[in-house]
Amino acid sequence: LDRLTTELSAAACTETDDAAPQDAVLLDRGIIGSAEVAGEIPELSRLSGAREDHVGVALCGIDGEILGAGNGREHAFPVQSISKAFAYGAAIDLHGMEHVDSVVDEEPTGEEFNALSLDPHTKKPKNPLVNIGAIRTHAMLGAEQSERTQRLRAVLDAAAGRPLELHRETFEEELGTADRNLALAYMLRAAGSMEEDAAEVVGGYVEGCAVLTTVTDLAVMAATLASGGTNPLTGERVFSRVAARQVLSVMMTCGMYDNAGDWVSDVGLPAKSGVGGGIIAALPSRFGVASYAPQLDLHGNSVRGTLFFERFSADFALHLL
Ligand code: DON
Repeated sequence: LDRLTTELSAAACTETDDAAPQDAVLLDRGIIGSAEVAGEIPELSRLSGAREDHVGVALCGIDGEILGAGNGREHAFPVQSISKAFAYGAAIDLHGMEHVDSVVDEEPTGEEFNALSLDPHTKKPKNPLVNIGAIRTHAMLGAEQSERTQRLRAVLDAAAGRPLELHRETFEEELGTADRNLALAYMLRAAGSMEEDAAEVVGGYVEGCAVLTTVTDLAVMAATLASGGTNPLTGERVFSRVAARQVLSVMMTCGMYDNAGDWVSDVGLPAKSGVGGGIIAALPSRFGVASYAPQLDLHGNSVRGTLFFERFSADFALHLL
């Protein structure tokens, strides 16, 4: 891990063709962007202290052993979309797989993470790991906003094995610029797919995205999935085996958005990214692994994180196929 993080720190972020996000929505969400646009570091990144040179990686075995490396290892950053995987697991354990499957599909979209990925025939969001599917999943977490938010926060805490803080600035900033997520929530209501109040559901979803994690927290959360639902540090059962397996299945096909196909070919592990700069991946029954590096590509995935996983998977022959 030390060798890989040293190599990555030296790697130019322009190494992939996809670097240099120009998308205003992405920049809005706290993304630093490629080296060329580093001058435009947005407010959110500054507020959460992201630095362009930050790189951190961590690995947590299902026996609880933790390894890590990199200068960004201690830095806490918003978990963002990685929370979607945990909300999905919580919904499955609350309602059962059959019901959740009848509400949210499990198909890759090939579209951007904030696209209107709603099946025109079934009216189901295509999967729970894009915004529209995560908003619908969040609505399943309880009858009221406070219940839903508390349940999600409790699941994130249990998976990390410690109470995670909310980054209030990210939360408030995102809530104030949530037009697109609100639009997705209203489309769910218009399609007859969701009855809950759109603003309340989006409020809870955004709170889940603004929870702060370190790369070590993320490795433990990934290890909780890899172990079949039990947190390897605390021994707490966070998810049933069925839920953990389903979360990993959907991560395999949908976790990296419109880069999911490349990811399966190049890395071959179930994974989930967040625009805070984190990526988690799991080798089932072995370990969870996570990376943090805040510069993102056009898909909203960490550039150096993707490079890390490509090399890590190749060097240790971890591709599942
Ligand atoms: O709702 C949003 O757009 C953000 N809070 C989360 C997006 C995200 O992390 C996409 N992942 N790469």
